[in-house]
Amino acid sequence: MRKIKAGIVGLGRLGMKHAEDMAFRIPNAELIAACSIRKEELDYVQTHWGIKHVYSDYSEMIHNPELEAVIICSTSSEHCSQIVAALDAGLHVFSEKPLGVTIEECKQAEKAVERHPDKVFMLGFMRRYDPSYAYAKQKIEEGAIGKPYIIKAASIDPEKNIEGCIKFAATSGGMFLDMAVHDIDLARWFLGSELKSVYAAGGSYLHPEFSQFGDGDNVCALMQFADGSMAQLHAGRTAPHGYHIETEIIGTKGTLKIGTVPQKNLVTILNEHGAVKECVSGFPERFSEAYLIEKQEFISCILENRKPAVTVYDGTKSTEIAYIATESFKENKLIVLDI
Ligand SMILES: NC(=O)c1ccc[n+]([C@@H]2O[C@H](COP(=O)([O-])OP(=O)(O)OC[C@H]3O[C@@H](n4cnc5c(N)ncnc54)[C@H](O)[C@@H]3O)[C@@H](O)[C@H]2O)c1
Repeated sequence: MRKIKAGIVGLGRLGMKHAEDMAFRIPNAELIAACSIRKEELDYVQTHWGIKHVYSDYSEMIHNPELEAVIICSTSSEHCSQIVAALDAGLHVFSEKPLGVTIEECKQAEKAVERHPDKVFMLGFMRRYDPSYAYAKQKIEEGAIGKPYIIKAASIDPEKNIEGCIKFAATSGGMFLDMAVHDIDLARWFLGSELKSVYAAGGSYLHPEFSQFGDGDNVCALMQFADGSMAQLHAGRTAPHGYHIETEIIGTKGTLKIGTVPQKNLVTILNEHGAVKECVSGFPERFSEAYLIEKQEFISCILENRKPAVTVYDGTKSTEIAYIATESFKENKLIVLDI
């Protein structure tokens, strides 16, 4: 069986999950290299998983002649330069979202993808590969709800992770880019139209620390798309009950709801607290399967010489929309695009 020899940069909260999938769960992939600026993470994968090559310098890793592909899961501001360097070094590239933290660098990534048409580039909008979201898309294509015209979405991190979110706030790019970008991508995907106007608002209701970065701990946006359809998005950091990802898609003939109650599983615990349904704890648990399926697709695309459905242009578009929403939030104004 042919195995794609891959490296990974970034072994943090999500990188470790991607690394573990690549090392142990994808039969056609072999994780031969890892890069991080945190030595303890490299020591871990070398000692416990026997990863052959470890690097603190990304440029050194991508020039390892054995390497065929790289998974980028570093800090968001590093993505674009690492994408460009890897493609120019002759590697296939999977990058975590967001594509970049400025539009200029997203355009640089686009150019690099265009320079290397023989290479696979994939962006980690994993919700498209989550079985429930993929099924919802299939039902829409089968006509189950007619033409979708409203998306309502909530993406709220658990309050218990707030310290990490505050630490991450300086480099996250803000709530719309870091959190709502998934729902922005889903709105474009489900509605099949591009942004026409947006009004966003929000604030730091529980944690004033976010304000110092011009951010909020909860933000909302109302968007209208070129075909008249709408998206109503809520992104937050303060869900007391767990990791709350909920999407409703309203169409001319019906409605689809995904994840209305973010239940951990089908178990109900009956005890002194009543009838308790536990909730999913965070993104690694809720989207574990989606993270695996998207990378399986990346590896299959390389082996079968085809391109993934999520493109670099989806990355630029969603980043652009996230920034327009951020501007609306910061300046408290309706923004209407000239399209
Ligand atoms: N798709 C999703 O649901 C999802 C969820 C969480 C995070 N993310 C994205 O994944 C990325 C990583 O997030 P995280 O929470 O794992 O971050 P993290 O801070 O926990 O980890 C960052 C990792 O990148 C490494 N790193 C940073 N700069 C580097 C450089 N120049 N060279 C080598 N290594 C470098 C660090 O050493 C660390 O291992 C972010 O872009 C984030 O937006 C996506």
